[in-house]
Amino acid sequence: MESFSFYNPTRVLFGKGQIGKIGKELKKADIESCLMIAGGGSIRKNGVYEQVCESLKENKIEWIESWGVQPNPTVEKVREMITLAKESSVDAILAVGGGSVIDSGKATAAGIFLNDIWNAYVDKEKIIRALPIFTILTISGTGSEMNGNSVLTLSSEKKKWSISSKLLYPKVSIIDPSIQATLSFRQTVNGAIDAISHILEYIFMNETAIVTRNIDAGLIKTIVKMTDRLQQVANDYTARANLAWSATLALNGISGVGLQGGDWACHSIEHALSAIDPKIAHGEGLGVIFPAWIEYVSEREPNRFSWWVKEVCEEDSVARALRKCRETLKRWGSATNLRELGIRESQLPEIRDLLLTYGPIGEIVRFRAEDIEALLMLAY
Ligand code: NZQ
Ligand code: ZN
Repeated sequence: MESFSFYNPTRVLFGKGQIGKIGKELKKADIESCLMIAGGGSIRKNGVYEQVCESLKENKIEWIESWGVQPNPTVEKVREMITLAKESSVDAILAVGGGSVIDSGKATAAGIFLNDIWNAYVDKEKIIRALPIFTILTISGTGSEMNGNSVLTLSSEKKKWSISSKLLYPKVSIIDPSIQATLSFRQTVNGAIDAISHILEYIFMNETAIVTRNIDAGLIKTIVKMTDRLQQVANDYTARANLAWSATLALNGISGVGLQGGDWACHSIEHALSAIDPKIAHGEGLGVIFPAWIEYVSEREPNRFSWWVKEVCEEDSVARALRKCRETLKRWGSATNLRELGIRESQLPEIRDLLLTYGPIGEIVRFRAEDIEALLMLAY
């Protein structure tokens, strides 16, 4: 087993009825005021906003609000939130939403101490401090509720890049799976594919982290089964809760212990797709890219995939395993090729050229221009 370090300081409150505890949690941390960050309004429809406001009032926490974070969030929007946070001198950030809202919250928390937050994403400034971050998660998939990552897009340059810092782990995250019953099945699936992809980024790295890979196989199988159940019954709480916790574990450090930091080529490639067209949901894009990546890399290194084929997919060849994956995606109504994502063949060179500005892509195979081209054609 490779040597590793493991770190995770986030405290999670999980289950029905936990949202009402947020005020007390802030108070316990000596927070007097916070900036509440939210998306396009789903939290008004499902009662989450009301629950949060009530709890803040009860605990005499003052707050201001910033709405309108969009899926595939932008640095331009975050800059507005940083200005607001500075003007009102809040003590903390409270992100209420999905990965997009939480990632914007993390960037705001760090950005008030920097000249410009985007500098951190392009390695021109180091994250030196951050306000404490609290989150109420409303859609499971990214794992952002329990990790130190944030992904933002600089729209003008179509760069969707990430940062990672110990200072960006939420202090407390509340995960109440019951409030995810208002998600469409499509959004549920996007989250499920994202979580599975986080595990896949790790598990092909080496064979020696046996305990991690067995945990990972269990997580992937659970995610698939729970998503199937939710396709039948959208308000199946047990399925929702197990999917939610699996997604958190898929990117909170556990799933990657001893797996050399992961490969992450598929994430880079998907981020370029969402940067070119922000209507492409991260999870759905990964559902197209990951099978194509496995198809491409397994031609060079077939043995690397044997364990996954047998233990995760319960099949006897990469081709059959991939067929099973794509059938699952189809059953869930998710895209299986770039055309279904609305990408035109004439856009492929633009995607390739954009990716070449993203820095090194992949560990198992380091993707050069011709590899990217070949992969995009397989995915097309
Ligand atoms: O904006 P609102 O109105 O809240 O609606 C959202 C949004 O339209 C809606 N939604 C969320 N909870 C809901 C709900 N609708 C009904 N009921 C609920 N309970 O869902 C839509 C998608 O939300 P979003 O936050 O964009 O989804 P997700 O959590 O999948 O986040 C995706 C973003 O996270 C990044 C992705 O690249 C993408 O930008 N990632 C972040 C990572 C991290 N920080 O570790 C890792 C990932 O690999 C990923 O890159
Ligand atoms: Zn992801």
